[in-house]
This record gives sequence, C-alpha cells and structure tokens, in this order.
Amino acid sequence: MYAATLITTLLTTITKVDAFACTGTTTLRDVAAKKNILIGSGAINPAYLDDPKFAVLLAEQFNSLSPENEMKWEFLNPTKGNYDWTKLDRLVEFAAANNMAVKGHGLISSCCNPPYLLNITDPTAFRAAMTAHFEAIMHRYHGKMDRWDVVTEALMTMGGGLNQNAFYNVLGPGYIEVAFRIARAADANAKLFINENLVETLPGKRQELYDLVSGLVAKGVPLDGVALQMHETIYAPAPGVITDMVNSYNALGLEVTIAELDVHTLDPVNQTNIYSAVMDEALAAGITDISFWGFTDKHKYTWLPGAEPLIFDENYRPKGAFYAVHTALSQDRNTTSSAAATQC
Ligand code: XIL
Repeated sequence: MYAATLITTLLTTITKVDAFACTGTTTLRDVAAKKNILIGSGAINPAYLDDPKFAVLLAEQFNSLSPENEMKWEFLNPTKGNYDWTKLDRLVEFAAANNMAVKGHGLISSCCNPPYLLNITDPTAFRAAMTAHFEAIMHRYHGKMDRWDVVTEALMTMGGGLNQNAFYNVLGPGYIEVAFRIARAADANAKLFINENLVETLPGKRQELYDLVSGLVAKGVPLDGVALQMHETIYAPAPGVITDMVNSYNALGLEVTIAELDVHTLDPVNQTNIYSAVMDEALAAGITDISFWGFTDKHKYTWLPGAEPLIFDENYRPKGAFYAVHTALSQDRNTTSSAAATQC
C-alpha cells in the first residue's frame, strides 16, 4: 500500500519535470484558489493513478477529488462487517500528498448494493446496517473527507416521484431523512449533500427536488446543500436556471454545488460553448464548489457512443473545454476583465 503510494509519488515527481501537460496557461487550481473555489475531479478510480501522466495532471489542475465506484456499498462493504479500504485509502493519501480536498461520493446510491443488504427486510435491522456502514466510513475518513454525497439520485431519472431503490423499499420515503441524521451523527462538521441529476434540464423534476429538500429543511433534517450532477448533452441549461436554483436554495440556508459536470455531444464547438455557459453562470451565481466527472476522455463515463465528454482528451491534451473552464475561472467578475494567461 505505502509502496504503491511511494512509487506513484516518485513517478509523479519525475513526470512533472517533463511538463508534458503544459496548457500554455496557468492551472485550473491556481486560478480557482485565488477565489477560494474548489475545482475538482470526481470519478477517480485509484487504479488510474498508476499512470503517472494521469496522476500529475490530476494533482496539477485540481484541488479536490472524489472516487468513482470505490465507495459504493457493494465494492467497499460486500459482506457484513467486511470493508476493503485499500482503494479509498490510496485516494486519500494521494490527496493529502498533493494538498487536495476529498469528497465522499457513494454513501447511498441506487446501484451497487450487496445481497447482504438487499436481503434485510426488517426496518430496524436495515437502519442498523446503514448506521454501521456510514459510521465505519465517516469515522475512518473524519477530517480527511470534508463533504459527502449522502443520498444520490433520490428522484426517478425523468422525475415523477422517488426512486424506489433498496432503501425506499424497506424504509419508505423516510430513508432520506434517516440517512442524513446518521451522517450528521457520524460527522458533526462535514458538509452533507443531496446529489441529483437532470434538474437543470427538467422543470418538473427541478420543482420536485426543491419540494423534497425544502420539506427536509422544514423538518430540521441536517443537510448543507444540493449537489447538481450536471451531465449535459447537446443543450446548455436554459439561461437563468442555475442562478434561480442557487437563489432558491440559498434562501433555505443551503449551498448549491456542481458535482459531476461533463458534456456529452459529438460536436466539440458545442461542447466548449456548453462548458463555458455552465461555468460562467455557475460562478456568477456564486457557486464555489465545482467538480467534473473525470477529466480525461481516456477514462470517460458516457452513454452516447463516440462522445468525449471531458476537458482533456484521451492523450491528456487540453481541449477547447479546458480553455473555456480556465477562462471562466479567470474572469474578474467585478470588473469583467479576464486575467492574462501565463506560461506554465
Ligand atoms: C457511474 C460510474 O462512473 C460508472 O463507472 C458506473 O458504472 C455507474 O456509475 N451519477 C453518479 C455516479 O452519481 O455515481 C455515476 O457513476 C454516474 C452518474
């Protein structure tokens, strides 16, 4: 374990000298840091760190990361009481070595729940399993993971009610409240998010999420914010939608973040424009925590054949999307003049 980290660190250092990833400009994390913005990459499978180019670029460009599937229940805790920490530990060590924050993603998701959990039908036993699972993870990474997607995709994909997942099936709609209360008890200080997809695109689902979240807030359920996935396709969200969401959740005392931004289209110009539009509006609205779902098309998650959704290509070269993100982050929103690019 430590040998693997040491090797990664050494290779990372050696590769840095090559400056292969030179984008001709400052890094995203440099410009973001000046404004106290978290700019992150989700979907980091720790095995990808074996490739020093991947590791260098990740550490060079981002100040936050989160796992892909490694925290999902089945992969981390496949049988009762048995946890495989090696992969998450590796991510946490990498982040610490490179001064990056880590977001916990995958406490509750519809996918990847193991048979031992799915076989529990008694609500009390099910809640006990949730408590044990959350506590094991959140205590281990206390102070190392600063924010968490506690519940992911609570709503049906196209809207129309709660997703009837394993948690809903045993505990009913109250599972969401149960999850946040367990998470808050496990870590009093971490930020706790509800993570949802497509609300920027589907007005009905947007209202549903607002109704759900405002109901939770009214009941005193401990959550800190909404994490918008933002897997975009060929259209940017309608202008004003991100701003309206930020304003309405801020009015409830909640933060809005972007958790999984990527753009699935076959047209690179359109892709660049969509990245630009989303980043500009999000930053102008005051969002300060933005993550992509990966950063290189070498390791992409897409449902659109041929799409290359991320900001670096599969050879780690910056795409138009990278420069769109960099420009948006560099913008001085008080004077509207953009920062000059410098050599890396
Ligand atoms: C995805 C992973 O990237 C895939 O490898 C896996 O097969 C399915 O899940 N929103 C989420 C993520 O919150 O957990 C999903 O991750 C992508 C959509």
